[in-house]
Amino acid sequence: MEVKKADFIMSNTDVSKCPKERLPEYAFIGRSNVGKSSLINMLTNRKSLAKTSGKPGKTQLINHFKINDNWFLVDLPGYGYARVSKSTKKVFQKFITNYFEKRLQLISAFVLVDVRHEPQPIDMEFMQWLGENQIPFSIIFTKADKLKPAALEKNVAKYLDTLTNDVWEEAPHHLVTSSSSGFGKDEVLAYIDSLNEV
Ligand code: GTP
Ligand code: MG
Repeated sequence: MEVKKADFIMSNTDVSKCPKERLPEYAFIGRSNVGKSSLINMLTNRKSLAKTSGKPGKTQLINHFKINDNWFLVDLPGYGYARVSKSTKKVFQKFITNYFEKRLQLISAFVLVDVRHEPQPIDMEFMQWLGENQIPFSIIFTKADKLKPAALEKNVAKYLDTLTNDVWEEAPHHLVTSSSSGFGKDEVLAYIDSLNEV
């Protein structure tokens, strides 16, 4: 699939005010600064469709982007930003969990994790919460350009290993990306395409 058209539609914190159209929807979630907004720009060939920053906590709202007039990409605020709150419950802001619980159009969440880091408790906890709430998700490893190929492969394998040793019987579907180099773009779009067709 090629992204020919990408339009910002709206921002809000209230899931009941999100677009009413019943189009397939995919939401990017993960720790602050992991690269959610950058990945939206990379996938849509746009420099600043979604606002990015070197400082964590840039995205504060639920942002809907309509792609090719027939599906939505959603950029969400990050979690785990220590300055917001120390309590895990509060870190997963209520409007984010509301979004996941109520948004029937959501086909899949994509949990973004920085490929350089070991599994972080907050990501494990969030994936577990998605599982408990029967919300389908895949993992997108970000910032692949920061590692050499051998280290990249090793980190991905180790991450998936930890997941399967820990909570999950099977590793979730996963993709590896770099918003700087464009690595993984075709794979992410092809995967979304395959879900759109189901
Ligand atoms: P919040 O909105 O604060 O939750 O952050 P976010 O997850 O949307 O991250 P954002 O896209 O704003 O990127 C955070 C920082 O990481 C920026 O400085 C980006 O330039 C950088 N970044 C994002 N993706 C990549 C990547 O693939 N490679 C490299 N090298 N840097 C990246
Ligand atoms: Mg962001």
